Amino acid sequence: MSNVNNAAQSTAAAGDAANLKPIQVKLVLLGEAAVGKSSLVLRFVNNDFQENKEPTIGAAFLTQRCKLDDKIIKFEIWDTAGQERFHSLAPMYYRNAQAAVVVYDLTKPASLDKAKSWVKELQRQANPNIVIALVGNKLDLAATARGIPTEEASAYATEAGLLFAEASAKTGDNVIDVFTDIAKKIPLEQLLASRGRTGAAGASGAGTTAGRVDLNAGAAGRNQPQGPCAC
Ligand code: GTP
Ligand code: MG
Repeated sequence: MSNVNNAAQSTAAAGDAANLKPIQVKLVLLGEAAVGKSSLVLRFVNNDFQENKEPTIGAAFLTQRCKLDDKIIKFEIWDTAGQERFHSLAPMYYRNAQAAVVVYDLTKPASLDKAKSWVKELQRQANPNIVIALVGNKLDLAATARGIPTEEASAYATEAGLLFAEASAKTGDNVIDVFTDIAKKIPLEQLLASRGRTGAAGASGAGTTAGRVDLNAGAAGRNQPQGPCAC
């Protein structure tokens, strides 16, 4: 009997999820070349890592759906190219973004300087309510090759009003947490209300869509990262 009830409850839950309209959140990744932006996205979207990932050309577009409390969030992720020759394209990707992940490599002090200059540019030119997370990537190398103390980056993030984390795309440490913290900080109710009035905003469907998770398929999806943001 309790099995029937459980089955009925999960069917009802699946139905509720199906009826929930996803809240689209446009998110951009910025940072110096080779700090691991694409690797963080690959970990978040596909729970995968490639040892010798090729540099991004222009930008890549990926999506990931998450369930946070009773809401479904569809992250529309623009993974930009860090090479300087692509810098002028960046405003196209951070325009109208609700969130930005600014990445540095915690083994390379110069990459934190570059991250700070991206934060300045975002604070000057992006959506004034943009939620910015500063992420020190390659935490797996910290024991042998750390170049930036956690306290230094964290103090800067606090002073600049940013979320902050150290993470590793390689091991997956803290990766989902970064996106969860962002989702928690974005005024989702407000976004939902304004979209109800004006229609869905954010990025249109250019580029490649990858790693879309169907929540109705249950928790067994191969591409489903684990964590509090139940992607
Ligand atoms: P651009 O696209 O050129 O801007 O680079 P990117 O920031 O997207 O860097 P990408 O993800 O391509 O990673 C660059 C290199 O760092 C690759 O060889 C990755 O395998 C490696 N890498 C990325 N993340 C990590 C990590 O967390 N730990 C370690 N050890 N290596 C990493
Ligand atoms: Mg890249």
